[in-house]
Amino acid sequence: MRTLTIHTPDDWHLHFRDGDMLLETVPATARCFRRAIAMPNLVPPVTNTQLALEYKARILSAVPEGVTNFEPLVTLYLTNDTTPEEIEKASNAGIVASKLYPAGATTNSDAAVKGIKSLYPVFEAMQKTGMLLLIHGEVTENHIDIFDREKAFIDAYLNDIVSDFPELKVVFEHITTKDASDFVKAQSSFVAATITPQHLLLNRNDLLVGGVKPHNYCLPVLKRNIHQQALQETVASGSPKFFLGTDSAPHEKHKKESACGCAGCYSAWSAIELYAQIFDDLGAIDKLEGFASHYGPDFYGLPRNQTTITLEEKEWTVPDVIALPNVKSSNQSLADEDAIVPFFAGQPLRWKLA
Ligand code: DOR
Ligand code: ZN
Repeated sequence: MRTLTIHTPDDWHLHFRDGDMLLETVPATARCFRRAIAMPNLVPPVTNTQLALEYKARILSAVPEGVTNFEPLVTLYLTNDTTPEEIEKASNAGIVASKLYPAGATTNSDAAVKGIKSLYPVFEAMQKTGMLLLIHGEVTENHIDIFDREKAFIDAYLNDIVSDFPELKVVFEHITTKDASDFVKAQSSFVAATITPQHLLLNRNDLLVGGVKPHNYCLPVLKRNIHQQALQETVASGSPKFFLGTDSAPHEKHKKESACGCAGCYSAWSAIELYAQIFDDLGAIDKLEGFASHYGPDFYGLPRNQTTITLEEKEWTVPDVIALPNVKSSNQSLADEDAIVPFFAGQPLRWKLA
């Protein structure tokens, strides 16, 4: 049996949610990642230092017994009311990054940023304190086709942000296009990107051919196969500007399988295994460790993990459904409200965390 031992990876972009959901999402991530960048799009959103530190405490209280070194890295949700003073306060409290959602771009982003240029004093403070800017890079204008929104964001905003703030560390989150990958490659060492398993594994045919597949629906939406191939080539190249960020984003089954289904793929229980399979299929398994365990901490200016994990080449099947914590009755069939359909449900994977 082939095995693969790598430094313990981190997940540089995911959604834990809040409340009881933490009892599901935190153990799932802590099983194989040491750190995780926790997105702030809660209801209400995590808009200041105090809310962020309270959220961190709630995440920590959901870490399973016996896991001693898991570290959530909470983030601030930028709004038009965010001040440079709040950035300084957050930075002093150890918050390493803030998230820019264009208002309306995705789940719980309505309270986010309208008029990105008005945030320039905030970006200035971030550049000064060394706080990272994490960007959901899609425009939201109705007349822009959903498949073109990432490229349009580069042209309308991102080019200016990176040239106006040359020493602001920017992570272009969950990139989905060749345009985004080419853009990041052309920038200085202050610009990097995360890539999800779904955007490496799938293209828009996997969302739309043969019927709508709501569990493959996420934002930014899956693109055509030439973009998927460009992302695959990018990670196989081993460029240190690209690292692991699952965007694992749970929604209850009934909210995905709905007339107006939520965006998000819940991949935490199979995350490292999915990436291992993709890298292996690309003939680039030797590049997995850099992507999963080295380039993220290097870019964030944090130490690499010293521990290791081992993956074994051993077939298993992703479960069809996951029961949420605190399901009331165990002898009835699981209600859709109490269940999550994980990403890649019912499909075989070749690698498994030992
Ligand atoms: O698919 C997504 N789901 N994309 C996002 O940007 C947000 C996330 C969520 O919070 O559900
Ligand atoms: Zn996300």
